[in-house]
Amino acid sequence: MLTSKIAGIGCYVPANKITNEDLKEYMDTSDEWIQERTGIRERRYAHRTEETTTTMAVEASKIAIERAGITAQDIDFIVFATLSPDYYFPGCGVLVQRAMQMKEIGALDIRNQCSGFVYALSVADQFIKTGMYKNILVIGSEKHSFGLDFSTRGRNISVIFGDGAGAVVLQATEKEGQGIISTHLHSDGHSAELLAMYNPGTHANHWVKEPLADYIDAPIGEMFMSKEMIDKAQNFPFMDGPAVFKKAIVKFPEVIMEALIKNGLTTADINMLIPHQANLRISQFVQQKLALRDDQVFNNIQQYGNTTAASIPIALCEAWQQGKIKEDDLVCLAAFGSGFTWASALIRW
Ligand code: ACO
Repeated sequence: MLTSKIAGIGCYVPANKITNEDLKEYMDTSDEWIQERTGIRERRYAHRTEETTTTMAVEASKIAIERAGITAQDIDFIVFATLSPDYYFPGCGVLVQRAMQMKEIGALDIRNQCSGFVYALSVADQFIKTGMYKNILVIGSEKHSFGLDFSTRGRNISVIFGDGAGAVVLQATEKEGQGIISTHLHSDGHSAELLAMYNPGTHANHWVKEPLADYIDAPIGEMFMSKEMIDKAQNFPFMDGPAVFKKAIVKFPEVIMEALIKNGLTTADINMLIPHQANLRISQFVQQKLALRDDQVFNNIQQYGNTTAASIPIALCEAWQQGKIKEDDLVCLAAFGSGFTWASALIRW
């Protein structure tokens, strides 16, 4: 039977380090508050013009492809998770296909925010299991720094997010017991607006009037974003932090246990848990709740902040590079975020 193994992994973070002290220049915050509430000490911001979500993804992908011992020409399909695409459309998958001079393969973008990478991995896994594709490039990449509210108004969100990218080559294998064991995907749209960026979006076509001629005459610039929306900061992400926190600490352990129970495993079997790096306090809560030892959980939010869809592949990449994940290890990925969506994956490395 075909399963999917991670044949190569790579990550990329921009060189530009932004410390908590740096943020104090723009908003009323403190290193103490940020570290105590989130664990974050610094994060990376992409170069304003030269680095995009796609260019970072390409850097991570080059490493993943090289480590898989293949070339970009061997990739059969791209699955790209991001909430901060280069363009409103088209998605970043096609931009990677172009930048890496790949064959005219399929490219799919996934919009599942913090759980985007696990969703992407799950989608890719299905294509491999059916035998349709052999080598799939799965990417999570974000350039948050382009669109955060750096005034005090946006401080609960802007101090959290950072930029970066991670990628894996998911490859078909017939080796028994190796690769992705199972993935578990969930959503609950009742809380969609608790963690969201509302605009630009088609929900608010306030400028549309009948007849057609009226809205064609709508002031340019107000078509997607009105002054009112901008005044209400609706062009920036909104998050009800405490509400998200409360739900996250329930759903993280739940979806991890779901994966373990489904496979007749227990928390003692986990060699490495890679939680989405949303907040160190959330990861610590999950660790405590599941009674996991320090060496069973990997966190790097301290250096990179929350890089949303990129956080799991960056953390997975660093854990592997540091020798903390070895062949035959049981690795668990888990994420929770906007949507709400949450997901887990169990992998035999
Ligand atoms: N610096 C200083 N003070 C701040 C800051 C800041 N950066 N941000 C908020 N505060 C203040 C608030 O104004 C508030 O002040 P008040 O008591 O005078 O009103 C106080 O700190 C407490 O604010 P809370 O929002 O209640 O703080 P909390 O302890 O909940 O921490 C945080 C906020 C870090 C956002 C937390 O709620 C959290 O991590 N939530 C979950 C985030 C998450 O998991 N997101 C999902 C992934 S993201 C995605 O999917 C895109």
